[in-house]
Amino acid sequence: MRLIFLEEVDSTNEYLKRVGFHHRLCVVAKRQTGGRGRRGKNWISKAGKGLYISFMFFPVSSKISAISSLAFGVAVLKTLKGLDSKFYLKWPNDVYINGKKISGILPELLKDRLIVGIGVNLNYTQEELLQTDVPATSLLIEGLPFDREQLLEKLVFQVNSYYDKLVTGRFNVREFEENCPLIGKKVSVVEGNICYTAKALGIDADGCLIVQSNSGGKVRRLFSANVSVRI
Ligand code: BTN
Repeated sequence: MRLIFLEEVDSTNEYLKRVGFHHRLCVVAKRQTGGRGRRGKNWISKAGKGLYISFMFFPVSSKISAISSLAFGVAVLKTLKGLDSKFYLKWPNDVYINGKKISGILPELLKDRLIVGIGVNLNYTQEELLQTDVPATSLLIEGLPFDREQLLEKLVFQVNSYYDKLVTGRFNVREFEENCPLIGKKVSVVEGNICYTAKALGIDADGCLIVQSNSGGKVRRLFSANVSVRI
């Protein structure tokens, strides 16, 4: 694994799109001036207040790319569970604790290059997180002491080992399901302008969330790119 450390960058994902031609290249920034989240949102990226990190893997097939989002979610979860067992996943790849989001993942596939951007809130105060689209928290707010370098090292290790699991066919989506309390519950689904309630039945081998609109109603496969789901 090659690691690049930057003081400041627009976005670690964008940086890898410009310079990332190495398999398993990883870039970490202290601060991002244009941090991006999923579905065109911003990602708050103040200096030293979070982990802002992106990985480049290639060549990657589109089949692997579809479930990679879940596998890397589990990689982040495992890293954070080293601090507290209360962390859990929300489909497709957010990590939550006590009903609030602490980490998000932005996977992007460019031909056969997979870029996986990960943000983890470390030292943000509640006031600094008021502008986020969903209730958010940080390790500081949760009162969980951590060592930034150790956390980074563990995250790099977990992401690499989940990549290996993916390419050798050893990643099983059950590992995600087991840590995702959404499964089996009634959820609100927002697909573009349409909003409906449904029961989350499970996750299929392609990483789609399977929902049933109401008891005995239509079963749908949700793709993560255009959907948001809440309990
Ligand atoms: C989300 O939950 O919306 C995804 C957030 C992803 C944020 C990370 S921070 C490092 C990388 N660079 C970015 O601009 N975004 C990702």
